[in-house]
Amino acid sequence: MSFSILGTGKAVPEYVMTNDELSGMVETNDEWIRTRTGIQERRICKGETLTDLTVRAAKEALQNAGVEPSQLDLIICSTMRGENVTPSQGAVIQKEIGATCAAFDVNAACSGFIYALDIADGYFVRKRVRYVLIVSMDNLSNIIDWKDRSTCVLFGDGGGAVVLGEGDDLLSIDITTEGNDQVLRIPHGSNSSPFYEHEEERAVLHMAGNEVYKFAVNAMATGIKKVIAQAGLTEDDVDHVIPHQANIRIINASAKNLGIPREKFFCNVNHYGNTSSGSVPLALDEANHAGLLKKGDIIAMCAFGAGLTTGSCVIRWSGNAKDPV
Ligand code: UT7
Repeated sequence: MSFSILGTGKAVPEYVMTNDELSGMVETNDEWIRTRTGIQERRICKGETLTDLTVRAAKEALQNAGVEPSQLDLIICSTMRGENVTPSQGAVIQKEIGATCAAFDVNAACSGFIYALDIADGYFVRKRVRYVLIVSMDNLSNIIDWKDRSTCVLFGDGGGAVVLGEGDDLLSIDITTEGNDQVLRIPHGSNSSPFYEHEEERAVLHMAGNEVYKFAVNAMATGIKKVIAQAGLTEDDVDHVIPHQANIRIINASAKNLGIPREKFFCNVNHYGNTSSGSVPLALDEANHAGLLKKGDIIAMCAFGAGLTTGSCVIRWSGNAKDPV
C-alpha cells in the first residue's frame, strides 16, 4: 500500500512578463524565445513572497482533496531556496496553514517534486502516515542573472502542491543523480566568515544550456521508458505525460523518442516558462482542473534538473479530487 493523489493546487504570482518586455532588458526578441523554447510569457514575483505562494498552493490542494490541515501527518516542501536558510519552508507552511505534523524540505532542483513523491512513498509503505502534503515551489527570479539573455528568458516563478492519502495508485517511481556542478549551478554567494579563504561567487544561475538540453532529451526518454516498464505497462497504456516544462523542443523530442503521441503531453511552458520544481505539479494541477484527468487514467511524470537529477514515475489517477477550487 502506498499513496493516491487526493487533490492538487497551484500558485503563481500575478505579474505577467512577456517576451517583448524582456526584449527591452536584454538583447533578445519574441521570435527567438518562442521558436527556441516555446515560452511566450512567465510569472514573476513582485508583491508575493515564496511563503505566500507555497501557502496558497497548499490551501488549494487541501481544499481540492477535502483534507484538513489537522489531518496531515507530514509536509514535504521541494524547493531550491526557501524563504530562510532555516527554518525550512516546510516548517513555515506548517505554521501558516495551522498543521501540527512534521515538516521538512528537499532540494533536488527541478526534479524535486518526484523526489518528494518518492520520499512520501517510503512513509506510506512503513505505515507512518495517512495524509501527506507536498508543496513544490521555486522563485528563480531572485537568483537568475537578469543581464544574461541565455538564461533570464527561460525561467518563471510559481509551483504546485498535492495531497496524498493511502492508496495503490503509485505504480512505479525512479530517481537518479549524476553529480555535476559544472553545467548547472547556483552558488550561495554570501559567507559571513572573516576566516574563509575562498572567493565569493555571485549568487546567480550559471548554465551551459546545450549540455543540459542533451542531458534532458535523453533523460526524459530513458526515465519514462524505465518507469513504464517497471509498472508492467507499455507506452500505449499511457493516457497522459506530465513532463517538466523547460523547453517545448525537449518535450517534442521526448515524445518522438518515446513513440507516445505528442497530444498526450500536457504543456503550459508557453505561459509560465521553467518554474523549476514547481513545474510538474503546476502542470498536473492545470490538467486536473481542466478536467483532462479521468478516474483510472495512467499518467507518466518526468523531470530533470541541476544535480544533475532526474525523477520519473507512473501513477493511476484516483479521481478523488473534488471540483476545482
Ligand atoms: O530545468 C532544467 C533547466 N535548463 C534547461 O532545461 C535548459 C536546456 N537547454 C535549452 O533549453 C536550450 O539549450 C536553450 C534554450 C538554453 C538555448 O537554445 P539553443 O538552441 O541551444 O541555442 P544556443 O545556446 O545554441 O544559442 C544559439 C544562438 C547563440 O548565438 P550564436 O552564437 O549562434 O551567434 C546565442 O548567443 O542564440 C543566441 N542566444 C540568444 N539570442 C536571442 C542565446 N540566448 C538568446 C536570447 N535571445 N535570449
